[in-house]
Amino acid sequence: MGDFEISAPTASQSPTELYSAPGTYQIGGQTHLRDSIFATACFTALAGIILAAYLRRALPKCRIFNIGRDHGVGSEANTSKQATDRCIVQRMDAAKKDLVVFFGSQTGNSQDLAERLAKEGHSRFGLQTMVADLENYDYETLVDFPPDKAAVFLLSSYGEGEPTDNAIQFFDFITSEDNEGRLGNVRYAVFGLGNSTYEHYNHVARKVDAALSLRGAKRMGVLGEGDDAKGSTEDSFLSWKDEVWQVLSSAMDLREQEIQFKPSFAVSETNAQSAPVFLGERSVDELNGIKTTPSGRHNPCVVPVKHCYELFRSAERNCLHVELDISNSDLAYETGDHVAIWPMNSNTEVDRFLRVFGLIDKRHETIHISALDGVSQLPIPTPTTYDAAARYYLDIAGPVSRQFLQTCARFAADQQQKEVLAKLGDNKEYFAELVSSRMLNIAELIETISPDNPACGIPFAMLIEGMRALQPRYYSISSSSLVQESQVAITAVVESTKFDGRWFKGVATNYILGFKQQKCGEKPAMGNTAYALSGPRGKYKLSVAAHIRQSHFRLPADISRSIIMVGPGTGVAPFRAFVHERAAQASASLSPGNMVLFYGCRTQNEDFVYAEEWKECQRKIGSLLTMHTAFSRQSTRKVYVQDKLTQYASTVRSLLVENGGYVYICGNAGMARQVQAVLCRILEGDTTSAESGETFVKMLKATGRYQEDVW
Ligand SMILES: Cc1cc2nc3c(=O)[nH]c(=O)nc-3n(C[C@H](O)[C@H](O)[C@H](O)COP(=O)(O)OP(=O)(O)OC[C@H]3O[C@@H](n4cnc5c(N)ncnc54)[C@H](O)[C@@H]3O)c2cc1C
Ligand SMILES: Cc1cc2nc3c(=O)[nH]c(=O)nc-3n(C[C@H](O)[C@H](O)[C@H](O)COP(=O)(O)O)c2cc1C
Ligand SMILES: *[C@@H]1O[C@H](CO)[C@@H](O)[C@H](O)[C@H]1NC(C)=O
Ligand SMILES: *[C@@H]1O[C@H](CO)[C@@H](O)[C@H](O)[C@H]1NC(C)=O
Repeated sequence: MGDFEISAPTASQSPTELYSAPGTYQIGGQTHLRDSIFATACFTALAGIILAAYLRRALPKCRIFNIGRDHGVGSEANTSKQATDRCIVQRMDAAKKDLVVFFGSQTGNSQDLAERLAKEGHSRFGLQTMVADLENYDYETLVDFPPDKAAVFLLSSYGEGEPTDNAIQFFDFITSEDNEGRLGNVRYAVFGLGNSTYEHYNHVARKVDAALSLRGAKRMGVLGEGDDAKGSTEDSFLSWKDEVWQVLSSAMDLREQEIQFKPSFAVSETNAQSAPVFLGERSVDELNGIKTTPSGRHNPCVVPVKHCYELFRSAERNCLHVELDISNSDLAYETGDHVAIWPMNSNTEVDRFLRVFGLIDKRHETIHISALDGVSQLPIPTPTTYDAAARYYLDIAGPVSRQFLQTCARFAADQQQKEVLAKLGDNKEYFAELVSSRMLNIAELIETISPDNPACGIPFAMLIEGMRALQPRYYSISSSSLVQESQVAITAVVESTKFDGRWFKGVATNYILGFKQQKCGEKPAMGNTAYALSGPRGKYKLSVAAHIRQSHFRLPADISRSIIMVGPGTGVAPFRAFVHERAAQASASLSPGNMVLFYGCRTQNEDFVYAEEWKECQRKIGSLLTMHTAFSRQSTRKVYVQDKLTQYASTVRSLLVENGGYVYICGNAGMARQVQAVLCRILEGDTTSAESGETFVKMLKATGRYQEDVW
């Protein structure tokens, strides 16, 4: 039996050993099959035992594998540890950690910074650090936090200043008013990630900071705030963290040491299949083909793509209407919710990535990944293969991290590559010019730097550490749950940009476009690439992995209330659902209130979506629906939804001021801000309300009569 166990890598092995020769960085208790007959006989039984262990571990906590978050899937078999797993104080104590870096992240930005900070603390000061996903812990025991340790929070804000999904519980806990416990022992620092285009700029970080200090916790340094809109997140982070290190190093009497380079993960290649291999499955449930936990953020459901068709009449741009059939799944939604699509990378990008990093010849080999410190979260599931990692689990086509290029430089194939990579890592302007302005991904960048020898010797263990996990993409559902209970519709514009001869293709939308092309028997058009649409083990057929996220975007509970909807572009998605819902209510003689829809696009003939449907609806429900359209490229004068709102100011005012109406805005955040400014102005001039326009809008928001779904 012992021969077949996956043993943890031994700590005594030094990093240099790991990287001494390309392709031989597999370490630790490497599994060798001494006797293949015995192996075959044992395999089935063993797989069963390991499977059972997985399930035992997963079930009581309702937590199964989640990409980029969960740690130690299958790496800890000790179930008696579970009770203490969610207590951060005990967890730090057991793992002998001095500093915990929590993150509240949706797309990985704050998780990235958390990992960098933890790593720096370790390599620069010899601190024992750990990164923690906020949702993996309970916080009642924070009152017992040891005074000689410290906690850092990296928090992103969303929606109307809301926490990320993984930070909801923590946020509610820490900001709840009946939470009395004193946190005088807690030494903390907070950095917020936000975008000042949004009204509630860095709201989460500010609230958490205020709540912690209200409870007596002691802040190190200032409250840091990064602003995406100014492109200053990186710079703000750098100066904030230097201050935090200064405070912390004098408080903890830390000494700077020469920076050592240590990887966090070990990767071993093995043919011993001691556990089922993840070939693209997004959860243990999917791997096992049985549903043990409800579908959700860590456990998407594979559902058929029932319809998929083009909405634009344009040679250059695509916008897809997609319908997912959720009738044979446990997915359920309400009008206004979001659906998440779990994409995969295109064949072209997968091949490019594997080629550049020297993995293409062994793409289907099984690999095991483990955390060298025993606590770091595994970024991708294990065991898996290089091919599955590149196709399903890693964000190989996404933006390149400048920090990561410095790591790549160490493993460059030649001197010239090394110099360029190092310069890119150092020089912001050079990086912007060569990389971000052209939207190159990491493998394309290496190809650009070294056209003759597009290879980089960076070990896979470093790749998975420096890269992000591939994230699901969210869409505002464009169907009504009242009308189509078992169908989820999406309205998505396909991301596609041409740069002198090269195409940038958005991951998820081009994956969906692949379904449309397959359904219609079309060949991929210019610059389009193929996807492994049949999914892991060929099990997807014409299906996608998806889950539903509840939103707060809801029609009025009182259906007789009038609604104003502002949704240019794909922002119209949820309003298609609203209109369908009220049309159904009207035909059931339920007397829904009036609907006024402000919609905008470039021209009437090119990108006007659902034109026939709107007409059909108006034929059925008559004056119940009024539509005002703004075309930005139809005449010499550009017209936007804001202009249309101004034009119909008196209708808007009377619906909102006199008739208790609701206003809904969906789409781009910049647009939403401009619309709000226009609405404030419209409501300002009103004589029946003594308040200013801004106060009136505030009141509308506070009473749920002003709702936004912005991205
Ligand atoms: C709550 C919510 C609701 C949404 N609803 C809708 C909806 O109803 N309809 C809709 O069409 N969209 C919607 N979106 C947007 C949607 O989630 C996706 O972001 C969008 O479809 C693009 O996804 P993609 O994978 O095709 O593109 P991606 O590959 O994710 O690219 C998107 C962008 O990321 C950046 N980027 C990616 N790779 C690189 C690179 N290598 N270098 C530099 N920059 C890069 C670029 O800015 C690029 O334009 C919504 C988003 C949210 C958060
Ligand atoms: C749909 C959406 C809503 C957002 N809402 C806010 C907001 O209300 N306030 C804010 O400061 N930033 C907001 N942002 C900006 C994010 O917080 C910022 O992009 C951050 O870097 C994301 O970090 P993450 O990758 O860790 O999730 C929003 C971004 C998106 C895409
Ligand atoms: C499991 O963990 C508990 C507490 O940490 C310990 O006492 C016990 O010996 C462990 N058991 C095994 C099999 O490692
Ligand atoms: C900030 O938000 C706005 C509105 O969504 C968006 O257009 C802009 O690209 C964002 N900035 C960055 C750098 O993400």
